[in-house]
Amino acid sequence: AAALPEGLDIRPLRKSDYNTGFLDCLRVLTTVGDMTVEQFNDRWDWMAAQNGTYFVLVIEDTSTKKVVGTGALLIEKKFIHSLGSAGHIEDIAVDKTQQGKKLGLRIINALDFISEKVGCYKTILDCSEANEGFYVKCGYKRAGRQMAHYY
Ligand code: ACO
Repeated sequence: AAALPEGLDIRPLRKSDYNTGFLDCLRVLTTVGDMTVEQFNDRWDWMAAQNGTYFVLVIEDTSTKKVVGTGALLIEKKFIHSLGSAGHIEDIAVDKTQQGKKLGLRIINALDFISEKVGCYKTILDCSEANEGFYVKCGYKRAGRQMAHYY
């Protein structure tokens, strides 16, 4: 796996990350909307209470303490494949100024590692055509077709 550049650290999201750039990092990906610190804390607590189902990682610049990358893994428990589990990678985002330095690759590698460790038989994700090449570099291959029903 690719090493992180000097001065960067990968770690789980903390409850204290409301103001550390995590949400701004996600804004690179999509609309985040406004939320109070209480709402953030409630969501963090809820995820933590699903013990072992949600893994949200961040990459932190250790000198500025700012979050510059993030990614999430959701573990889905199934009846099929002998009560198997599937990992779902979601919400990968790297700060614009830090893109192209293998941080995205490092986040995917870390989430893949967790997924395999907890016993998932596969990890899947949805992405745009524009991002397909990135995931191919991360060892993923095109499989199936995404369908969506938005409300
Ligand atoms: N198309 C083709 N190749 C790519 C792309 C791309 N869009 N992006 C990166 N790569 C290549 C890199 O050149 C590199 O190749 P190399 O090993 O030959 O040098 C390799 O993939 C690894 O790239 P990283 O440097 O790790 O990529 P980066 O840190 O910039 O992260 C990411 C990629 C996450 C897509 C970033 O550009 C980003 O945050 N984009 C905006 C948000 C976004 O689209 N997120 C993904 C949504 S899909 C999901 O969340 C499941």
